[in-house]
Amino acid sequence: MSLSSIINNIPKAELHLHIEGSLTPELMWRLAKKHSVTLPYASVKEIEAAYNFEDLQSFLDLYYAGAGVLRDEEDFFTLMWEYLSRCHKENIVHTEIMFDPQTHTERDIGFDVFMPGFLRAMDKAKQEYGISSYLIMSFLRHLPESAAFETLSEAEPYYKHITAVGLDSSELGHPPSKFERVFKKAKSLGFKIVAHAGEEGPASYIWEAIELLDVDRIDHGVRCQEDKALMALLRERQIPLTVCPLSNLKLCVIDDMKQHNIVELLNEGLLVTVNSDDPTYFGGFLNDNFVALQESLDIDEDTIRTLAANSFKSSFLPEDVKRSFV
Ligand code: ADE
Ligand code: ZN
Repeated sequence: MSLSSIINNIPKAELHLHIEGSLTPELMWRLAKKHSVTLPYASVKEIEAAYNFEDLQSFLDLYYAGAGVLRDEEDFFTLMWEYLSRCHKENIVHTEIMFDPQTHTERDIGFDVFMPGFLRAMDKAKQEYGISSYLIMSFLRHLPESAAFETLSEAEPYYKHITAVGLDSSELGHPPSKFERVFKKAKSLGFKIVAHAGEEGPASYIWEAIELLDVDRIDHGVRCQEDKALMALLRERQIPLTVCPLSNLKLCVIDDMKQHNIVELLNEGLLVTVNSDDPTYFGGFLNDNFVALQESLDIDEDTIRTLAANSFKSSFLPEDVKRSFV
């Protein structure tokens, strides 16, 4: 079997996916028409052409503007359903999906609008495709900690549907330490903890995420190689890194996929996984990320199988379910 067939056919879990980052230009266009929202683009092609970024912030500006077309429960259902249908095509059998409540509550669209839409699509995907999915509620780190506390409290009616709490948005200047108290509270409520760290930010942000937020996983974390002691800790504790290769390329974290350090991290004994982050903005869903790595790096069938096994090992699935996949 060719490597691309193995990539397509092997069961996989996805652990780092922002649902708002799976909004296709076609759906953005359709919803803008439905709600009479004026977009700064004249066609779907123009939306696609705008997706050239020089750093994380230049992407986030378009990503938050794009999410402005999501208005009613049906929109959130459709967004989630389109992503889960894509998972079915790609043999993603389990997915842990981040959502940014503040991107919506700041526009007066509440949990009672987006949560029922998300949950209905997740139930349908379980029924029709057998896909299991968990939700990760992410706080926007460019906003104050008080806003994260408010969001945590607004989410209360939906706690049983949320597995983990995360931290995303503009990394530089917003270290994990800014959110130490709200993550302590989230942990005490029983949530798993993840945080973006070491994407654009330095290795010290990864240390903070581990020591101050007590994370179960690090999102990205590719800058960990700058610190030998940190590498040793990640190896020893097997703290997973959810790495997103096409995202790193599109956001200029690397200049060329040949420079990606994922194989080095794997060879150094770290628990790394492959993920798509914001697939419709970065030019590829999960299998495209595997293919991009395989085309540029020294990756054989064993490496692909290890990365797929790591995706289950690093998930929040119950231990017995994890074991059935690795
Ligand atoms: N929100 C959506 N995608 C993100 C990323 N790659 N980094 C930080 N915040 C994000
Ligand atoms: Zn991300």
